[in-house]
Amino acid sequence: MKRVYLHPLPLRIWHWLNALIVIFLLATGIQFRMPGIAALWSHNPLLAWHKWAGLAMTASWIFWVIYGLATRHFVRHYTFRRRDFERMVEQARFYLFLIFRGEKNPFHPSPEEKLNALQKLAYGSVMGIVTPVMVATGLIYTSGFRIGGTLLPFDTIKTIDALHVAGFYLFALFLMVHVYMATLSPTLFTHIKGMIVGYEEHPEEEPGEAVPEAAATSEAKNTNQ
Ligand code: HEM
Repeated sequence: MKRVYLHPLPLRIWHWLNALIVIFLLATGIQFRMPGIAALWSHNPLLAWHKWAGLAMTASWIFWVIYGLATRHFVRHYTFRRRDFERMVEQARFYLFLIFRGEKNPFHPSPEEKLNALQKLAYGSVMGIVTPVMVATGLIYTSGFRIGGTLLPFDTIKTIDALHVAGFYLFALFLMVHVYMATLSPTLFTHIKGMIVGYEEHPEEEPGEAVPEAAATSEAKNTNQ
């Protein structure tokens, strides 16, 4: 087995705190819309809890942006390169068909490039579009739909409300797909354990098996660590 170090400690702490915040926001948010369906807690304190969790999400998002820029995390792992367009099709083919035939994942994560093309797209969209939209619309809710003391027009309020609810559905969808995908690894818990301890354990390549350039560099680095 070889160890590939993928997730630095600050990112792991951020990831699990952020996951808790998102799950809590979904669980409290669903009760505003469907109190009869999901009655987890009494309705009264929910709005205050939801607001505090929303502020925590704002702080979490600001941390993610600063960390991503300061450590070059975005440049290394989120830059969408030309070859990612071709790899996207290959990766989708793997997840939709080849995995069920027992074939190996075409992507090998490395400390230089740990996200495959579809992960870049999914995580980039959730963190770069859906989260800021949820934060911005949530803050407008918190202000009582007033900007500079003036109540927003009714149509604008309806649009903000629709965006916030659409974001809820996107987060819920992302969470289900993300947790399922997180279990698609050499063993059920390889990726999840990796997000806890920082490194993943992968079987050594068979003799003669091609190792992509980025993975090869990381292996060389890992063995030197
Ligand atoms: C309990 C639920 C969750 C589990 C088990 C989980 C698991 C994982 C794992 C194993 C990874 C490593 C990369 C991979 O294999 O995909 C990962 C990465 C990631 N997860 Fe989650 N996750 C959960 C919830 C969330 C939530 C709620 C969000 C945010 C909306 C989130 C956002 C991310 C992001 C952005 C990354 C990429 C981190 C990076 O830049 O390296 N996850 N997650």
